[in-house]
Amino acid sequence: MENQMRPAQMQRINTPALANAFIEEQVREVRAQVGSKKVLLALSGGVDSSVVAALLIKAIGRQLVCVHVNHGLMRKGESEQVLEVFRGQLNANLIYVDATDRFLDLLAGVAEPERKRRIIGGEFIKVFEEEARKLEGIDFLAQGTIYPDILESADGVKAHHNVGGLPEDLRFELVEPVRLLFKDEVREVGRALGLPESMVERQPFPGPGLGVRCLGAITRDRLAAVRESDAILREEFAAAGLARQVWQFFTVVPDMRATGVRQGRRAFDWPVFIRAVNTVDAMTATVPELPWAVLQKVSARILAEVPGVCRVLYDLTPKPVGTIEFE
Ligand code: XMP
Repeated sequence: MENQMRPAQMQRINTPALANAFIEEQVREVRAQVGSKKVLLALSGGVDSSVVAALLIKAIGRQLVCVHVNHGLMRKGESEQVLEVFRGQLNANLIYVDATDRFLDLLAGVAEPERKRRIIGGEFIKVFEEEARKLEGIDFLAQGTIYPDILESADGVKAHHNVGGLPEDLRFELVEPVRLLFKDEVREVGRALGLPESMVERQPFPGPGLGVRCLGAITRDRLAAVRESDAILREEFAAAGLARQVWQFFTVVPDMRATGVRQGRRAFDWPVFIRAVNTVDAMTATVPELPWAVLQKVSARILAEVPGVCRVLYDLTPKPVGTIEFE
């Protein structure tokens, strides 16, 4: 546990100079730890795994093997960005697995939120395990564990397993270069490594992805409505300068329909809920007073551009009583 604890004298990494010093130190440590061996990393495209990937590419180049599993529940453009940044710009040794059909077939007809989560988590491990077995000569597993994960595990708040659940015969030695950093420090390091701002400043996104925002049993058409409406919301928030001011925002499509009228004919389509919250630690959250013009613009665009939607609502519920996600 000792080298798991942050030394009391460790400076908060809040400048590019401190980030660069940290990067140099970690590059040395990682090289000393892995030598000429290979390291495997599940690269989701989230802040932590992206920063670990960029750091390890700097340290050991193509000895790092990244696996990006697209479970079909990513936001619009997310997997493409992972490919573009890591394969295109950083010359990463990156295996891309499009497992969309596997996940959506397994999830068909499953409405209970926790069962959906278990299926998505379990299948993710399975796909990752299959890829790991195809590879040879891997000795290390890199993970984007950060300091709050360690603190919360020690407190018993949550069991932290980044790629938990790999079978006994697939146990690798761990490489966790950002394990002593807080989130803001991980972002500072990511910036110093040259990752794009949209990746470094990415808002929290749940592991089960859009799967818990397409309420009830997931269907491909409703999932597309979640993805398209979410993309519009993100675009408009960015254009209005709200993206960095609101902690988390997204859209949700429930498993119900409402009547509407389109071109003089009755419609019976889905509503889209907009959820936006501000919080410090996600334990409680408030709902920001969004500019009316932004809400109107988002609403008009969703109604005009997203097939199957005939209504847009803004969720006014703080946490508690409502959780941030709907499921
Ligand atoms: P709730 O809905 O519990 O969300 O108020 C608090 C924060 O946690 C995120 N969240 C998840 N993250 N797997 C994750 O990795 C999950 O199953 C999950 N459920 C919620 C949520 O987006 C919010 O930031």
